[in-house]
Amino acid sequence: MLNEKILLIDDSPEILENLSEYLSSLGYDVTTASDGTSGIHLIEKQFYDIILTDMKMQGADGMEVLRYVKEHSVESICIILTGYGTIRNAVEAIKNGAFDYLTKPVKLDEISITLDRALEYRNLKRENTNLRNQLKKKYQFKNIIGESPAMQSVFETIEKVADTDSTVLILGESGTGKELIARALHYNSYRKDGPFVPVNCAAIPSELLESELFGHEKGAFTNAIRTRIGRFELANGGTLFLDEIGDMNPNLQAKLLRVLQERQFERIGGVKPIKVDIRIISATHQDLKKAVLEKKFREDLYYRLNVIPIQIPPLRERKSDIPLLVHHFINLYSRSRKKKITGITDEAMKGLMDYQWPGNVRELENMIERLIILSNRERIDLTDFPERIFPSLSHESDHPIEIPEEGLSLESALNEYEKQLILKALNKSGWVKNKAAQLLHMNRTTLIEKIKRQNLQRTPS
Ligand SMILES: Nc1ncnc2c1ncn2[C@@H]1O[C@H](COP(=O)(O)OP(=O)(O)OP(=O)(O)O)[C@@H](O)[C@H]1O
Ligand SMILES: [Mg+2]
Repeated sequence: MLNEKILLIDDSPEILENLSEYLSSLGYDVTTASDGTSGIHLIEKQFYDIILTDMKMQGADGMEVLRYVKEHSVESICIILTGYGTIRNAVEAIKNGAFDYLTKPVKLDEISITLDRALEYRNLKRENTNLRNQLKKKYQFKNIIGESPAMQSVFETIEKVADTDSTVLILGESGTGKELIARALHYNSYRKDGPFVPVNCAAIPSELLESELFGHEKGAFTNAIRTRIGRFELANGGTLFLDEIGDMNPNLQAKLLRVLQERQFERIGGVKPIKVDIRIISATHQDLKKAVLEKKFREDLYYRLNVIPIQIPPLRERKSDIPLLVHHFINLYSRSRKKKITGITDEAMKGLMDYQWPGNVRELENMIERLIILSNRERIDLTDFPERIFPSLSHESDHPIEIPEEGLSLESALNEYEKQLILKALNKSGWVKNKAAQLLHMNRTTLIEKIKRQNLQRTPS
């Protein structure tokens, strides 16, 4: 069953006997000690999951046992047993790190519930520590892949600024790894045990964003039924990641600037100034400098955020990173998907190097993950890839383009090619024009115009 080890310390032989019998019947592995000093000796020699100790004892009392546990056996949970006369001491013990206290005479079901809670709490804490350690590992710099000179210079900067409080602005197209770098900065800083709190300024409707950031007091507006803590407060002691900052509306830009200048804020509807200790990292795929020139983004806020700029180049401008990334993702996903895919053919790799990767590393990662799931080969091959990567494999191109003796009209040839591509996109997306437009990286109205002009119609299949 449980087999968790409990040490029971009490100077009453009767309590020791009754409780140890009961706890053993619950499946615990129980050891007893009849005073604090011998209890401490036992803790010295062996680890106990839970230490249940009386408060008032001759020699070392419950407080002393607790102190010893907190210093020498931090993973153990200490629960205090106390008579009515010493409840105040028990409260003091909780302040000093006891998990809970039970008053004598102890009710058996009460003790069983408290022990369950204690173990649940301990397990959650362990799980949390494990998850945190996994996160720290995942966001080690060595897991950010890249050898191109452009990425080398990114690494140089992040290694220099990670363990500082500098405000960082990360710029780059969608899917280039902005969030990855923001997290790596956090998990490689002295704040790594504090929270990393992301806010996507583009995903949250602007009327809600202010309360999301700063929180609100109960009754601050119609739907504010209770006080809510905002992300600024949640990030205390850690890092606040303002993602897609370029999408923040001007009104909120002004408020954010004030908070950054004054280093304090109030919840909406509140008057009490709140101070937090946070590091700010922001990111955007937009050209913020241009947005400043166009008066869409406040210049003063831009300078506040842009203390250390990190520009991540699009993947097409650092193609030498593609092979490394491909191998990295093949390893990652063949392990997690339990597949025996070990590599990729040279032709396939060459094809990947020729592709433009509009969705950057994310597109590459998603594609490899999908291939790993679908493919049963040992090495990924050309034919595993979707047509958009290797258009030369599609049927039309089985007949290479040739210019006939009499020549051809470039315009009508391009027209024909356009027609074919649009038809393909429409068929691929089941004639859902929004989707087809996305496939062709154009907006829906342009696509509709072209469909009209080319007089394209859906043919029954
Ligand atoms: N250099 C890299 N090495 C390894 N993985 C990377 C790298 N760059 C990006 N990735 C991976 O690509 C995916 C997209 O990265 P991320 O979410 O950080 O991009 P982003 O710039 O924030 O994109 P968006 O603007 O769309 O939010 C993630 O799964 C990330 O782990
Ligand atoms: Mg992102």
